[in-house]
Amino acid sequence: MEKILELKNLKTYFATDGGVARAVDGVSFSLGRNRTVGVVGESGSGKSVTALSIMRLLPMPPGYFAGGEIFWKGRNLLSLQDDEMRRLRGNDIAMIFQEPMSSLNPVFTCGSQIMEQIRVHHPEMAAVEARERSVELLHLVGIANPSERFSAWPHELSGGMRQRVMIAMALSCNPALLIADEPTTALDVTVQAQILDLIGTLQADTGMSVLLITHDFGVVAELCEEVLVMYASRVVEKGEVRQIFSNPLHPYTRGLLESIPRMGVPKERLHVIEGSVPSALREPVGCRFSDRCPLADSRCRSIEPELVAYEAGHEAACWKAG
Ligand SMILES: Nc1ncnc2c1ncn2[C@@H]1O[C@H](COP(=O)(O)OP(=O)(O)OP(=O)(O)O)[C@@H](O)[C@H]1O
Ligand SMILES: [Mg+2]
Repeated sequence: MEKILELKNLKTYFATDGGVARAVDGVSFSLGRNRTVGVVGESGSGKSVTALSIMRLLPMPPGYFAGGEIFWKGRNLLSLQDDEMRRLRGNDIAMIFQEPMSSLNPVFTCGSQIMEQIRVHHPEMAAVEARERSVELLHLVGIANPSERFSAWPHELSGGMRQRVMIAMALSCNPALLIADEPTTALDVTVQAQILDLIGTLQADTGMSVLLITHDFGVVAELCEEVLVMYASRVVEKGEVRQIFSNPLHPYTRGLLESIPRMGVPKERLHVIEGSVPSALREPVGCRFSDRCPLADSRCRSIEPELVAYEAGHEAACWKAG
């Protein structure tokens, strides 16, 4: 499988008043062409900072890359000049965020924002053509009457429609990779399902790769082929979705899987992992999950486990795995 993206031991830190926050602390994974990979983990585990590191969209300072590399089609993104990086964003890699309203400019119509996005990357394109392409994109993302909706203002659209517009903008330059950071959490449940369906369909039609960040293992099961489980700024397990579901190796992964709501199971019987993700400011000693782990022993509390392969394509960072 051809790798288009590869993170090698990436460390993204923030200098804060309280000390150094190790938001991403030695993350390695690769992403194949045409693949959909889910990233799951509780709040604060470093999912967004990983995505924003790839896009190089973090505020620096206070953020900085403390180590590692991000290869995109063989080039290390961390050594690109800002203008090269700007060209790559949108053209090769696009990102959509959780809150579609904050990413649309309220004083321009939706269509003109898509047009603008197209013309930034294709300044040679005539306005008429860019407009046609924008209407096409609105149609592609499932917006009815796209030529009328072209002139709609962001506030005239529902949250789901706005997210569709954001997806249209992200797709405007045929990116090879779409990063979607919890693209549906701000939407109600039925609309969430529609947007996720749309992303799945677009992925299949265009062959782009998708990195889908979510809290929800159910979403991963629906949409993804591979999954990365993040905990406390690290990847603690990765594998094919079926491997993770049928044979989860890390106690944290098992905890997350047990907390998926199932139909007919009363809410109060849901298993939730007790405790919380340790602060990124805390100096890590041993396995970061050890203070919440039912299996932890003295080795777990003193030596940090690295990712180890247990079957082809399936790795876990746990002394008790296997
Ligand atoms: N600008 C910043 N300055 C300092 N610390 C930061 C900054 N941005 C993120 N962090 C810290 O980095 C860690 C990882 O944050 P991140 O936003 O990546 O988590 P997440 O997995 O995306 O969580 P969520 O599911 O809530 O979106 C957190 O401890 C967070 O406080
Ligand atoms: Mg996040």
